[in-house]
Amino acid sequence: MTIQKTFKTLDDLDCKGKKVLLRGDLNVPMHDGKITDTTRLDRLVPTIQELIKKGAKVILCSHFARPKGKVVPEMSLKPVSKALSSILKQPVAFANNCIGLNAQKAVNALKDGDILLLENTRFHAGEEKNDPTLSKELASLADVYVDDAFSSSHRAHASTEGVTKFLPSFAGRLMEAELNALNAALEHPERPVGAIIGGSKISTKLDLLSNMINKVDMLIIGGAMANTFLAAQGIKIGKSLQEADMHKTAHDIMKKAKEKNCNILLPIDVVVATELKNDPATRTVDIKAIPDDQMILDVGPKTVELLNKHLTQLKTLIWNGPLGAFEFTPFDKATNVIAQEAAKLTKAGKLKSIAGGGDTVSALKHAGVINEMSYVSTAGGAFLEWLEGKALPGIVALTTLAQETIPL
Ligand code: 3PG
Repeated sequence: MTIQKTFKTLDDLDCKGKKVLLRGDLNVPMHDGKITDTTRLDRLVPTIQELIKKGAKVILCSHFARPKGKVVPEMSLKPVSKALSSILKQPVAFANNCIGLNAQKAVNALKDGDILLLENTRFHAGEEKNDPTLSKELASLADVYVDDAFSSSHRAHASTEGVTKFLPSFAGRLMEAELNALNAALEHPERPVGAIIGGSKISTKLDLLSNMINKVDMLIIGGAMANTFLAAQGIKIGKSLQEADMHKTAHDIMKKAKEKNCNILLPIDVVVATELKNDPATRTVDIKAIPDDQMILDVGPKTVELLNKHLTQLKTLIWNGPLGAFEFTPFDKATNVIAQEAAKLTKAGKLKSIAGGGDTVSALKHAGVINEMSYVSTAGGAFLEWLEGKALPGIVALTTLAQETIPL
């Protein structure tokens, strides 16, 4: 199923000569004013280029970091305008306020096919408060609104949700791709569908796990979260990280999974060490033989073999969270091997693999397979909320039913 039935996309937009307010997610990793990963910018390029080609005046806006409603010079989007300009190979003008006289003047100077980047929307307190005054001011700069920021759609903010009330609104190409990929993975997957869910805490992924057991046939639990599940079953996990107060929750999840015919897979062997650092002395042990003074830092080779075997039975795989402490060697091994197996099956056309979430993207990059999955979402929090089954306000606002705009 595609989203075209519910959302207007660029296919429905004749934007020649029109001012298009484009919401991207330019919340890119930055160090000392230099962008360290341009993935989010690169993914926005198809929408920008299509709008330019159609003769629109592109007014790009986004939040950056968390300035909490104040002007914080280090959180300016100015460096992004330079980076975008070199990616697009055309000038990207910059307005040092996303609303007001400066923004208006910069918009007035645009010719068809030009691009303007507005300053960080979160420099205004109204952004996170979803203040209609700010939404209205942003909307007043343009004729139509295009939302290409799936990764910000879990925020009901003035530039994501609020603004759709004042302008005809459309999904950009990245938004469309994200929604189609996630929809295909979770709502209408080819079965059997499995999920790898890693991470350190059940408490932060409780809603996600509860939703997953309703949707998937197999749930592979990794990361420190698996330790809590093991401990809940009475397995001695030594010094491993766990949430002792979540044992009952772990039991409830396992019980519900059984009722829903969702097969939960936990490690059967693990790699342990006395401390978390690069290349410490390690041991690989059965989960029933974890020494008291050691901690679990990765799943073991028998588990990897078992998971690889299960992966071959799947048609769809959703991945969020690494299996081990992959930032430290050799605890990246299981994640690397499983990621490479998923990539191999994907390449052979046997598996549709969809991954997302900050750590997951880093882990897949580390495993060298970031470009070999069927789809890797650019979203962090929004991807998680989607997996939790929550309605994302930015997406809800884009539905055709929600398209009644208020005259400015
Ligand atoms: C993200 O990076 O996940 C989005 O840009 C949202 O950022 P936020 O968590 O600061 O709202």
